[in-house]
Amino acid sequence: MTTETPSQEGLRERAAAALSAARARTAGLTDAVSDQDLTAQHSPLMSPLVWDLAHIGNMEELWLLRNVAGRESMRPEIDPLYDAFEHPRAERPKLPLLGPAEARRYAAEVRGRVFDLLERTPLEGTALLDGGYVFGMIAQHEQQHDETMLITHQLRAGAPVLTAPEPDPPQGPPPAAAEVLVAGGPFTMGTSAEPWSLDNERPAHVRETAAFWIDTTPVTNAAYQAFMADGGYREPRWWAPAGWEQIRGHGIEAPLFWHREGDVWLRRRFGVTEPVPGEEPVLHVSWYEADAYARWAGRRLPTEAEWEKAARHDPATGRSTRYPWGDADPTPAHANLGQRHLRPAPAGSYPAGASALGVRQLIGDVWEWTSSDFLPYPGFRAFPYREYSEVFFGPEHKVLRGGSFAVDPVACRGTFRNWDLPVRRQIFSGFRTARDV
Ligand code: AVJ
Ligand code: FE
Repeated sequence: MTTETPSQEGLRERAAAALSAARARTAGLTDAVSDQDLTAQHSPLMSPLVWDLAHIGNMEELWLLRNVAGRESMRPEIDPLYDAFEHPRAERPKLPLLGPAEARRYAAEVRGRVFDLLERTPLEGTALLDGGYVFGMIAQHEQQHDETMLITHQLRAGAPVLTAPEPDPPQGPPPAAAEVLVAGGPFTMGTSAEPWSLDNERPAHVRETAAFWIDTTPVTNAAYQAFMADGGYREPRWWAPAGWEQIRGHGIEAPLFWHREGDVWLRRRFGVTEPVPGEEPVLHVSWYEADAYARWAGRRLPTEAEWEKAARHDPATGRSTRYPWGDADPTPAHANLGQRHLRPAPAGSYPAGASALGVRQLIGDVWEWTSSDFLPYPGFRAFPYREYSEVFFGPEHKVLRGGSFAVDPVACRGTFRNWDLPVRRQIFSGFRTARDV
């Protein structure tokens, strides 16, 4: 979204384009595998892909056809199957789910009716419709599940089925320094203006931080391997007690999807086994692993507020921008987003996407763990449903920021907040570190 107020026609086009882009990606992820693969459970952490597919259609039906248009449920008997709160992921394969052909037909039928609705509905007059919000919310929901489905692809055993070009080598000179100093003082965190921002990003409010240093790039595989080689996974003093328990209990000694052959660390990435590339941001680490690395390095994870200040605060104007590089929508020169590549780009890439202070790759490449619990901002109001954010607030979830290579631009901005349990590592998670002044 740009900052000037778009016309109704402009909003409609934007909503339609966002929905269509999400559906094209969903089709790519689901058409790439057999029907048997779509209904199989590739990991107890994940739903079968066919569940995500029908759930995408069901959320769209719920919000756009039932809530906005006031229609009756198209298939009342399936609604409970696709309510994420009724059935945990591990149970979903045993449910009487729609099969692949039926799920595709159902999602397509919902979409046909939604496009009819979008033609006729004024995108103003209620909080759901203003600025096309609820259509944007549904496009973001589908893109979030597309990332979830890409995680399922990564967990799936067998030959590769997805392809994408490699990221270009870094354009231009590397960052001038390994870390930058962010001055103490207030900045504006969150947003009240971004039209398609989700409830947990709102409202804009002033936050104070002390001065801090933050890494100019995410932590690389080479740096992480130095921690491993130094016995990092065998030293309880680097680990939060619950993290130590987790790595001991599960025999964890490297990021997920890594294994050692002789002296060489290899990783499996979407069905390909390859040497771990040293210059690439480390991926598939838990919050506990990120936290332990940072302590070993004599540093710490940034707080969520520090991350956002580094990403949005422009010291020259005192304003917070939408992205590190300013207010313009992301282009391929700014960030590695949208599953254009099936991996992060080397650390130091995307100089055009650097923040005012020269911090790179805050947006795209890897989700970055922060030290912060997932909590509401002052003045938070659940909208339009408590189950998106509110029920997850509390100390058990840690905040991730910035988005990975698997995040679409429609679901990514300097204010966007993601969260997960600190043990999770199947997600496209990495981190950068910070320190006090
Ligand atoms: C924001 C990624 C944590 O996948 O659980 C999808 C997004 N919410 N459907 C999730 C979401 C409802 C959510 N995360
Ligand atoms: Fe969902």
